[in-house]
Amino acid sequence: MIGIFDSGMGGLNVLAELRQIAPLCDVCFFADRENAPYGTKSPSELLRLVRRDVKLLRECGADEILIGCCTASTVYGELSEGERRRVFPIIKPTVKAALTATKIGRIGVIATEATVRSHAFRQEIEREGAVAVEYAAQALVSLVEGGESDSYITRTGLKCVRDALSEIKNEKIDALILGCTHFPRLSGIISDVMGSVRLISSAYEGALEISRVACTDGVGATVYL
Ligand code: DGL
Repeated sequence: MIGIFDSGMGGLNVLAELRQIAPLCDVCFFADRENAPYGTKSPSELLRLVRRDVKLLRECGADEILIGCCTASTVYGELSEGERRRVFPIIKPTVKAALTATKIGRIGVIATEATVRSHAFRQEIEREGAVAVEYAAQALVSLVEGGESDSYITRTGLKCVRDALSEIKNEKIDALILGCTHFPRLSGIISDVMGSVRLISSAYEGALEISRVACTDGVGATVYL
């Protein structure tokens, strides 16, 4: 069984993608709503939560665990070798997709405050010789948690998305990583604002990664909210 966790709605986006890619995979999902948002937490707080989330999913019987959250994935390297066993972070596969998408070697990243502070995306992108520009867009997490999305957006919500993209919109990039699994819920609006820039969804890339390593036959999803 695959375990997936996140602070909230982002993990549901990953789960929805996985359902499309591998409908028969058996999944156990945990959304840590009590401690949401993760994006404003310190690295030590995040590490404590990730350790607990991994343990919880293992106790539920998960054989492989996808960290369905970019913020939580930033502390993956701090886990012990034993804790990392069959645990998959989401940053590397997302960057890999962005590197394939970019023609000019300049990739934008929007993510939570904690993810941008960690520079986890930037380090991974620069390791491959491309340029990264990162901007925090924490406000979009609250927007999505509040129920707003491409199919339902208030005027204030729309302004919030435009404000969050106001600087990155002027950067010379041709690929933009939605470096928080909450953000794909707003991908239509983000795409409208960003024009011809290719969007890379961390939720989709995470789901694809875990389906490659873990999907066997199985049915049903146990959802803990
Ligand atoms: N969905 C999460 C991520 O991918 C975290 C959002 C939050 O709780 O701040 O980073």
